[in-house]
Amino acid sequence: MIANQTIQQILSRIDIIEIVGTFVKLKKRGVNYLGLCPFHNEKSPSFTVSPVKEIYKCFGCGRSGNTISFLMEHEKYSYAEALRWLAARYNVEIEEKEVSPEVRQQQQMADSLYIINTFAQKFFSDTLFGSEEGQDIGLSYLKERGFNEEIMRKFQLGYGPDQRDVFARAALAAQYNLEYLQKSGLVVVRDERPMDNYRGRIIFPIHNQTGKVIGFGARIIRSNDRAPKYINTPENEIYVKSKILYGLYQARQAIDRQNECLLVEGYTDVISLHQAGIENVVASGGTSLTVDQLRLIKKYTKHLTIIYDGDGAGIKAALRGLDMALEESLDVKLVLIPDKEDPDSYVRKLGAAAFRDFVAAGKKDFILFQLEVALKDAAGDSGKKAELVNQMAETIAKINKTEDFTRQQDYIRQCAEILRIEEEGLHSLVNKFIRGRIEKQESRAAAQAATGESGIGVGTSQAADATLPPDEESISLLLRHEQNERGMIRVLLDFGLKAWDEQSSVADYILAECIDLYEMIDNKRLLKILDLYKNLYEKGQEPTTKSFLYHEDQELSTLAVSIMDLNLEISPNWKNHYEGKITTPEELYREDVLSTMHYVKLRKIKRLMEENQQDLAKPHEDEELMVLLQTHRHLKELEIQLTRHMGTVIVK
Ligand code: GTP
Ligand code: MN
Repeated sequence: MIANQTIQQILSRIDIIEIVGTFVKLKKRGVNYLGLCPFHNEKSPSFTVSPVKEIYKCFGCGRSGNTISFLMEHEKYSYAEALRWLAARYNVEIEEKEVSPEVRQQQQMADSLYIINTFAQKFFSDTLFGSEEGQDIGLSYLKERGFNEEIMRKFQLGYGPDQRDVFARAALAAQYNLEYLQKSGLVVVRDERPMDNYRGRIIFPIHNQTGKVIGFGARIIRSNDRAPKYINTPENEIYVKSKILYGLYQARQAIDRQNECLLVEGYTDVISLHQAGIENVVASGGTSLTVDQLRLIKKYTKHLTIIYDGDGAGIKAALRGLDMALEESLDVKLVLIPDKEDPDSYVRKLGAAAFRDFVAAGKKDFILFQLEVALKDAAGDSGKKAELVNQMAETIAKINKTEDFTRQQDYIRQCAEILRIEEEGLHSLVNKFIRGRIEKQESRAAAQAATGESGIGVGTSQAADATLPPDEESISLLLRHEQNERGMIRVLLDFGLKAWDEQSSVADYILAECIDLYEMIDNKRLLKILDLYKNLYEKGQEPTTKSFLYHEDQELSTLAVSIMDLNLEISPNWKNHYEGKITTPEELYREDVLSTMHYVKLRKIKRLMEENQQDLAKPHEDEELMVLLQTHRHLKELEIQLTRHMGTVIVK
């Protein structure tokens, strides 16, 4: 855990233009900077960065955020990783928060393993390129297989000398601890003496998504019946097999760009395809895919294409349990390459362009593929076939219906056709499985509602109360309410410290109008921002948008960013056309404040009128009735005044 003062130090040095500019080419345009959005494909720039507000917004795809969320989205860092990256960039020394001794020990172990792996990776690469044995055996083997030096360096390949303990001695001499060396899997103790584990092997370092070496795969050079072809790092604090995709670090940008991830079996497949210019490719190591691996892929793309040899054991392993992909809303395709080939050999045979065409043309849906294979197995056995129908229905039911409704319909149709059964029958079977799942979800939701959780969504509180789905009109009303609530917070954040009149600030005015905070604002998070603002303001701390930009509650900071205006400048052309004075958004702030406040007030009046009306509907004594009617008139009068006034200000 990074200590708070370190975080503050980092935040105070952030220069969003410099950081975002590392990844996106930015051009100054007025007070802001403009570039091509890195989050979606576009030809003309709509990605805007404001150095003053320290935020970015894309007017094309709608993404917005601060420097940290940019690093998290673009580099797929965690919050802590983004902070560490910034700390390294700005030379801020990281002070760690006090953590429990166990956690600390685990962190120290992880750090030590990273350092040892980095040392080892260099050692093996130096040996491959710089030693006689490395060149004669390792380098010549890799060259014979057609790998060039550039690609070897890109993947940081190496060679482990075919001797008892050359590496172990070097590591111990460099003061690395034997216990850690064993944990890293690089050194084993045999006959009470340290011994290198990867003797006479080609070394494939395995990186995590941020490029740190977390372990190794070591391939034997000449086939040998007694030794395994590959030796891998044993599971430890940083090498967790179920979360690793080989090559992801080198592939991540290409995956993002092409919105597709290719999955192959082996290390050499990944490297060969890269060398051929196909860079959006990772390997799973021939085992079945785990949920963690699928989620890792989903951070970059929803489109996964598995390229395997259809007759090998690998394809069966890869498909096992892949139903999970449906729950994750991943779209999985399958490309089978001919028997006895692997992507490495096949891309060499066909060449890059033909290989690409082959993949594009050969894509099959993995569910339908599985069905065809299983149907062949079940040939003639009606019991097996019935079981298969059930299985398919269960699989199809896992498709997230709200997200992929048509996809689900398509599957039902196609599966019914392949199985030669009535579509209707399969449909109702699928529905049965869906109902079962919904019942489970509903009981979970009921438990959550009891604890009073509420999301950021539009008017969640009302929506959740309603037993019937809200009609369109009330939805659009809710949206308008939400927009105006946001507007009110926006003017408070943007203009709160400016003068309202001679004695008071805009914040004074708004906060005085908001004595009944809880009645004015429905959205709980907006209310929280308002509350926080009020607290800071009353302590004399002059809150601004920045006070919320890096708030520790990330949902809150996301909300703050999303309601911020970028202060778009008036175009120079406009200035040429219209001589005379131009009002800038800055100068319009009074009207901005007034119009949002009017709206919020109007809404409150409407609410009071409704309550009053409900009261009126009940039986009353004459006197009571008089009061209620007077109240009604009074409220109506206020409403008319406000509405009239609102017509005169510029409503945004
Ligand atoms: P080459 O034969 O050099 O082309 O390597 P490859 O990566 O194509 O190997 P192969 O197709 O035989 O195996 C695919 C993947 O399965 C490898 O990259 C490894 O990740 C894994 N694998 C294969 N053999 C072994 C083994 O003996 N032990 C372990 N742990 N993994 C293996
Ligand atoms: Mn191979």
